[in-house]
Amino acid sequence: MKIHIVNGPNLNRLGTREPSIYGSQTMEQCLETLRQKYADAVTLEYYQSNVEGFLIDALQAADDAGCDGIVLNAGAYTHTSIALRDCIKSLSVPVIEVHLSNVHAREEFRHTSMLSAVCKGVIAGFGMDSYRLAVEALVNANA
Ligand code: DQA
Repeated sequence: MKIHIVNGPNLNRLGTREPSIYGSQTMEQCLETLRQKYADAVTLEYYQSNVEGFLIDALQAADDAGCDGIVLNAGAYTHTSIALRDCIKSLSVPVIEVHLSNVHAREEFRHTSMLSAVCKGVIAGFGMDSYRLAVEALVNANA
């Protein structure tokens, strides 16, 4: 299986960004753990951008390349981006929306997601383990 993990704005700073909310692990550490854990079954590609249009390009490219699933943490674009929603809706590959924090336990503006309705599912609140849970869901769905 080929799974793409796509991270949006400010998630390049995981490890140092608000560690009380997002933890102190870097995305590179998380990826290394996931790649080891799923070495036999999954090839994991990773892309991060702070730019909305680049995220859309990456999602379309992953779909065009025929990958089996996308794990997307769109960061704050989750709450604002109709362009990302339209993009996800147009893809044939399943997309899982992921958040490290429990967005529903935070500020009200984080309670709304433009993306959830067009994603296969949503995982939020488990820190870095949210990414593993999403990969696991895609693997199980493919079994
Ligand atoms: C986030 C939650 C968003 O509200 C926030 O803007 C982020 C990170 C999370 O992973 O918890 O950048 O997506």
